[in-house]
Amino acid sequence: MPAATRTVLSVATTAATATTRSATSAAAATAASPPARRILSGIQPTGVPHLGNFLGALRQWVQLQDQPAQSVVYSIVDLHALTAHPPVPPTTLRDSIHNSARVLLALGIDPKKSILFQQSQVPAHTQLQWVLTCVTSVGWLNRMTQWKTKAGSSPADTAPPAALKMGLFAYPVLQAADILIYRATHVPVGEDQHQHLELARDIAKVFNTNYKINLFPMPQAVSTSAKRIMSLTDPTAKMSKSHANPKSRIDLTDSDTQITKKIRGAVTDSDASVTWDPEHRPGVANLLSLYAACRDLDPASLPEGELKGVVGMANLKQKVAECVVDTVRPVRDEYLRLGGEEAYVREVLEEGNARARAEADATWEMVMKAVGMK
Ligand code: AMP
Ligand code: TRP
Repeated sequence: MPAATRTVLSVATTAATATTRSATSAAAATAASPPARRILSGIQPTGVPHLGNFLGALRQWVQLQDQPAQSVVYSIVDLHALTAHPPVPPTTLRDSIHNSARVLLALGIDPKKSILFQQSQVPAHTQLQWVLTCVTSVGWLNRMTQWKTKAGSSPADTAPPAALKMGLFAYPVLQAADILIYRATHVPVGEDQHQHLELARDIAKVFNTNYKINLFPMPQAVSTSAKRIMSLTDPTAKMSKSHANPKSRIDLTDSDTQITKKIRGAVTDSDASVTWDPEHRPGVANLLSLYAACRDLDPASLPEGELKGVVGMANLKQKVAECVVDTVRPVRDEYLRLGGEEAYVREVLEEGNARARAEADATWEMVMKAVGMK
């Protein structure tokens, strides 16, 4: 059984309880009776998805398709990618959108079970974003870690640097619109997105209260045990597509040799023993986390369990490289095969765009009625 279908899912404990009623058909779902379980998530098309994306979020996207749900909707969020600074060149963005779709199909997103689409092709996302912007406090957005990290370099008493754009500030409101336009109840994401989910719930609550309507359910995060995979070159920072050094991450399209080389070069420490100590030995802990996530095990159990007797960083890295290679290989091989199926990948997205538009437009109608625009 592929790793993608084995992971045990858990709903984030901090999440508010979603509105859950017995299943109603899409046609029968009304503002008064929200649908049972609707799954939505998104990924930015900024480069190729990496192992952190896969272990932290994407493999549960695959798994959730096979659990009972009224709808499963996955978005390539190209509007969010416009917040990158400096801007992504248009040809790169076009390629990244296509390649992200290829990776998602390669790892098992099945267009018969899920709607896979491109965010910018569904105008109701940005229409709802405006309405939500009008109920979102500036103070809430100022507290967002992602904003603070990027804005943090400017002292409070000076004007923000020109590189700080409104799009980046409003980014979490667009994310809330992505979720609420499908009236989603469950959102599979990595830990770095939990704060944005909390904000989406706050926004939904204010909207429902202001307009005296139970339109939006409270979306909950769904997490894997690999909440945060760290960079191979700096184990105190998360593995990220935007990191300048490609050796810091394992792309899902990397060859077996590239994967093995990158893991051999991972930063660890001078202690030859293998112990689970994330605080003092973050590099070793990250390697153990990778191994554990690929094999669906508890990382803390490894030194006395499956990796008992392994001594020396070279030996540990060899074990980790083998299991990461096994995990990535089927995804990469399918990705390469889909390289010859460009028209098919485009068709999947076009069909997904049309289906997403129909779902999103239905909610937008309800929003317009609720606020008095219709
Ligand atoms: P992004 O690439 O930022 O669009 O992220 C797509 C998904 O992958 C989101 O659900 C993130 O929370 C998740 N994710 C990104 N980086 C990591 C990481 N290093 N570890 C675990 N999950 C991650
Ligand atoms: N902000 C998310 C990330 O960087 C991507 C995203 C955009 C998203 N819209 C979303 C995730 C809606 C979940 C639901 O990973």
